[in-house]
Amino acid sequence: MSTSPLAPRGVLYHWAEVLPLTGQTPRITLGEGDTPLVRSAALEGQCGLDELWFKLESCNPTGSFKDRGMVVAVAKAMESGARAIMCASTGNTSASAAAYAARCGLECYVLVPGGRVAAGKMAQAIAYGSRIIEIDGNFDDALNAARELTAKHPVALVNSVNPYRIQGQKTAAYEICETLGDAPGMLAIPVGNAGNITAYWKGFSECAEKGLSTLHPRMLGFQAAGAAPLVSGIPVLEPNTVATAIRIGNPASWSGAIGARDESGGSIEAVTDEEILEAYRLLAAKEGLFVEPASAASVAGLLKLARAGRTRGGRAVAILTGNGLKDPDTATAQYTPDITRSAATVEGVERALGW
Ligand code: F0G
Repeated sequence: MSTSPLAPRGVLYHWAEVLPLTGQTPRITLGEGDTPLVRSAALEGQCGLDELWFKLESCNPTGSFKDRGMVVAVAKAMESGARAIMCASTGNTSASAAAYAARCGLECYVLVPGGRVAAGKMAQAIAYGSRIIEIDGNFDDALNAARELTAKHPVALVNSVNPYRIQGQKTAAYEICETLGDAPGMLAIPVGNAGNITAYWKGFSECAEKGLSTLHPRMLGFQAAGAAPLVSGIPVLEPNTVATAIRIGNPASWSGAIGARDESGGSIEAVTDEEILEAYRLLAAKEGLFVEPASAASVAGLLKLARAGRTRGGRAVAILTGNGLKDPDTATAQYTPDITRSAATVEGVERALGW
């Protein structure tokens, strides 16, 4: 790869040799991937670990990990002649699809569960110019509709049931192995529709096969307690959680998640909304990392395991899947801000500060 600062960045450039690209695949990019891996400053010990690293997927161009898979899915859709794409989404997939569609001159149709998508994500879908349909139902209903609609009309489905999404998302595992020099012992990840845990496991398995790593991480997936079908083993008809991104009752990649769990000797467990919000606040206040609630589920899970005495050192990576700015309403509802009004004078500010 060229080292020029002007060389194109992005998943299709950096990871071309591990992706199913052809000479006809358009090399589109919004600069996705190559996200920071940052060592924990405060929560490592509390999580009972020797090393805790955060993979900041919130640093992708639309603020979530979805861009890694979306860039591949959209490029392959264009390669096959598609002029339009569609997805069902709890918000991040739709923001990402809408961005790449705007960039590439495609029509984009997004089906979202009515009233349940965080404000920032809706703003993105609107700003990027997608056609938004609010479904009178939940994400699972929206995905069923999207599958049927794309089977019937000449529109490419870009949900993670599209294998190119998984291919793109697996590149995060390659990046982790590249940065750490090996796979970590554990990977903590929030689970909703289960595409991402499936993709990471594929990526880590490939890294081991290629000799890029010596370890297979234990995959530790965490679902919200009100939307934890992979924990109970049965679909949840009316999923509910403050972490709206993972408010999913019947994950499309169910078997992929179970495979990742069992082959890696890991687990998929539930964390309550209270535990998610505690981790959400700790990440912001102690680590300087403002993530969306779903992303905090990975750290909530590690804290929960640690409290139960189930983490015993070792190195873990927690995937922080999306940016806190996407869900300003949850943020403001979490805090009673200590804000003092002041005249625009030095004396006024000093008085306000009690100096
Ligand atoms: N974290 C965030 C911020 C998400 O947006 C999602 C999924 C997940 C975690 C879970 O990933 O579905 O691969 O298990 N969001 C999808 C969406 C469902 O429509 O944006 P998963």
